[in-house]
Amino acid sequence: MIKVEGLSKSFNDNKVLENVDLTIENGEIVSIIGPSGTGKTTLLRCINYLERPDKGKVTIDDLTVDADNPSKKDIHGLCLRSGMVFQSYNLFHNKTVLENVMEAQVIVKKRSRKEARERALEELKKVGMLDWKDHYPSQLSGGQQQRVAIARAISMDPSILLLDEPTSALDPELTKEVQQTIRNIAKDGMTMLIVTHEIEFARELCNRIVFMDEGHIVEQGTPKEIFSNPKEERTKKFIQFLFPQDYQIYI
Ligand SMILES: Nc1ncnc2c1ncn2[C@@H]1O[C@H](COP(=O)(O)OP(=O)(O)OP(=O)(O)O)[C@@H](O)[C@H]1O
Ligand SMILES: [Mg+2]
Repeated sequence: MIKVEGLSKSFNDNKVLENVDLTIENGEIVSIIGPSGTGKTTLLRCINYLERPDKGKVTIDDLTVDADNPSKKDIHGLCLRSGMVFQSYNLFHNKTVLENVMEAQVIVKKRSRKEARERALEELKKVGMLDWKDHYPSQLSGGQQQRVAIARAISMDPSILLLDEPTSALDPELTKEVQQTIRNIAKDGMTMLIVTHEIEFARELCNRIVFMDEGHIVEQGTPKEIFSNPKEERTKKFIQFLFPQDYQIYI
């Protein structure tokens, strides 16, 4: 289980997250939606301490880290328990696909090279990238790079996969490819928290939609509740903004 309690984060005077509470059960797939600049990326980055929150607690499984006094060991523990997939893939450009998926397993997980290699091959097969294992990222399409990034993240056995707009840099065809990869991983029971603007994808994939605005969670519920019957005025406005023509046809 993943639990965020009273999480706050400011950049100078800019209060980006204010007292955010969020619980995600094992196996749940949750999507965060909301306007630009609302703190979605910051929330994801605070969950694994890529960004240090000012206040609040993050729990993943048996580990609770309090922003008041996090130890290095705690922060390392959160990194081990959470996998991050970025919009811009973040692969090492001087390493092959296979080396990219092996690297963190060896360095962070302390797996032997043999074990890391076997696991990397297994995950690359899962995302349909086995034939590309000896290529370099620059030789791949954006969608292929993102699938490698997903293989790299899941090879670390995270308790939760955090995905920040994993398809927003891709054209529609490549977006479909990556979405299919995410669906496959979902079928394996991976717990996921996804920031996405792909509303159709979120609706079909997720158990729960969280709507954020101005550093707060305004409303959360099933896709049907949020997209077809939002309760809060701000959610209604955002849904209407997403489906300006006639959003009734989508529901
Ligand atoms: N490292 C940083 N330093 C200063 N300000 C930051 C930093 N990271 C984010 N911010 C600010 O925090 C606010 C929230 O940013 P964040 O990236 O979390 O929003 P978002 O909801 O992910 O937006 P988008 O949908 O555009 O990706 C913005 O005002 C942004 O300028
Ligand atoms: Mg963002």
